[in-house]
Amino acid sequence: MIPQRMIDEVRQSSDIVDIVSDYVRLNPSGRHFKALSPFTQEKTPSFIVSPDKQIYKCFSSGKGGNVFTFIMEMEKVTFPEAVEMLAKRAGIDLGSYRQQKSQQEEQQQSSQHDTLRWAARLFYRTLMSEAGSKAYAYLASKRGLDAATIRKFGLGFAPDSWEFLLDAARRDHVPQEQLAALGLVTRHRERNSLYDTFRNRIIFPILTVGGQVAGFGGRTLSNDPQTPKYINSPESAIFEKSKLLYGMHAAKNEIRRQETAILVEGYMDVIAMHQAGFTNTVASSGTALTRYQAKILKRYTSRVLFLYDGDNAGKKSMLSGIDILLAEGLTPWVVMLPGGDDPDSFIRNYGKEAFQEELESEKRSFQEFQLQCYRDAGLMEDPDTASKAISAMTRSIALIGDPVQKELYLDELSKKLDLSRQTLSKVMATSADDRAPRHESRGPNRHEAAPNAADDLRPISVAERTFLEALLESTSYGNEVLDFAASHESMFTLEHPAARAIFTHLVERFRAMDDKEGHIDITSEISSVEMEQARNLAFDILIRLPVSEAARPTPAELEQHARRCLTHFLTAVKNIMLEPLQKQKQEIIAQLQAAASAREQERLSRELHEHNQQLRTMEQEVDESIKGILGE
Ligand code: CTP
Ligand code: MN
Repeated sequence: MIPQRMIDEVRQSSDIVDIVSDYVRLNPSGRHFKALSPFTQEKTPSFIVSPDKQIYKCFSSGKGGNVFTFIMEMEKVTFPEAVEMLAKRAGIDLGSYRQQKSQQEEQQQSSQHDTLRWAARLFYRTLMSEAGSKAYAYLASKRGLDAATIRKFGLGFAPDSWEFLLDAARRDHVPQEQLAALGLVTRHRERNSLYDTFRNRIIFPILTVGGQVAGFGGRTLSNDPQTPKYINSPESAIFEKSKLLYGMHAAKNEIRRQETAILVEGYMDVIAMHQAGFTNTVASSGTALTRYQAKILKRYTSRVLFLYDGDNAGKKSMLSGIDILLAEGLTPWVVMLPGGDDPDSFIRNYGKEAFQEELESEKRSFQEFQLQCYRDAGLMEDPDTASKAISAMTRSIALIGDPVQKELYLDELSKKLDLSRQTLSKVMATSADDRAPRHESRGPNRHEAAPNAADDLRPISVAERTFLEALLESTSYGNEVLDFAASHESMFTLEHPAARAIFTHLVERFRAMDDKEGHIDITSEISSVEMEQARNLAFDILIRLPVSEAARPTPAELEQHARRCLTHFLTAVKNIMLEPLQKQKQEIIAQLQAAASAREQERLSRELHEHNQQLRTMEQEVDESIKGILGE
């Protein structure tokens, strides 16, 4: 366990706006910042960040939290890992705490992320050692990489051995099952033994935006045509290739600064581009660009320059990638390299100055690129194929969300084709219908749509919500309410499971505190509640709570706030306690209204009367004790 004071220190040194900006483009909006949610596929921003409260809330998925939960979500890491990542970012040394971990504990706790980091380091050290000399020579002389670049991308080498990684794992006490789970070793079916997956390969660690190792790509050094040139870590919860962009970790700041991302196909392309100074480059890693990758790009910029291989496959990928970018609200540009070259080989063959010139002179709008592709393929000569090509181009325009841009592209197309705007608009209207089935088949994205938070759980009663509001708010003014709640827990029962989870957690934490006057950091506490719906509910309440205007309230003001919270809280407790009796009362009234006989009516009337008395007595009792607590 990381000591609480360290967690507090890390949280206080990590500004939520700063952290979230690494992943999302934030726009100021009143006291808050707003953005498209990184958790869903939304088109209108519903993701709110509050710098005052240092929390965020996504109103389309219901997810909310503080810096720790945000990193947990985005980097798919555990709470302690998120704390470590943020500590590193803030320059806080958790070393003293780490050393306290016994070796055994270290072993038990070594997570998949630790193992991935361990393997990346091992591959890097091997590349730099005698065992990696041939591989290093290949990278340096054949691929033109310098030492700084190799280091920047953490390139490595997996030797030509079946048991290199396995042996190292044995030595360093890394569990074999974990290597197998990560696909770093493979099980031989017949012999039921394990062997290294990456052999005689240059290793490209694939990092998350936050710099965690998520998986590996490996390029063979062998010339054997039977050996696949590239292999990658298998897909897993940690490694989803279609949701990662290679190089994003190194490129994100430059993409933001230049307001453009350059998109290439391969690992080596990214690396060569960065070495040549084009540090806003990332790769879709061989797969066709996915909507998810487009969404990631959208978090940093709205302009993307395609720089795929100059072959037919590259052209095709760019044609389909254009529509994916447009649909996500990005503007694509294209540079077509001369046939046979990719960015890496072009830079090596002609130098970076020539490459820069190429970028400037060959840059085309996506529309020019489309038209050129269709012309080159001879489609524009035959009226039948030409009409199909034109409707494909209007389909792309129809994807553009911005109405002005849409008009401008339509104008441009009309000029280029020498067709009237009217005709084009008609084509666009009909081709938009053709698109319908395409949208239907956007299967995978359906799954990504976040479930509506409200569907997960039945709604919480007003009394219980008020109870939580008062409880959560009160912690910024002291522990009086919590103290009361902890000692009167048995007086009432919370019906809602999420409310119960929040309450129980806070009470337990309070009981475990040595210094009962100590400050409770409410967002961190909530972040460690296990039930997700409970966390979401709590952050929903927190983001809606008013921010106190005074930066430094006086003790008298604090006292006043604390008292207000306690009063609210007690009123809520009262309502919760009386709620069962109130419900019974409603039931009796309903029965009374439906009663068939006079006798039945009389019996129920009496019952109602008794019940009312009971209710009143109870109300008085509770009021009395509330007065007692408040010292009135
Ligand atoms: N790729 C992959 N898996 C494969 C093939 C390709 O992940 N089985 C990805 C890699 O990211 C690779 C990119 O697709 O970098 C482009 O592949 P390719 O053009 O074949 O290789 P290059 O990047 O040009 O590699 P090199 O220059 O080393 O030949
Ligand atoms: Mn290449």
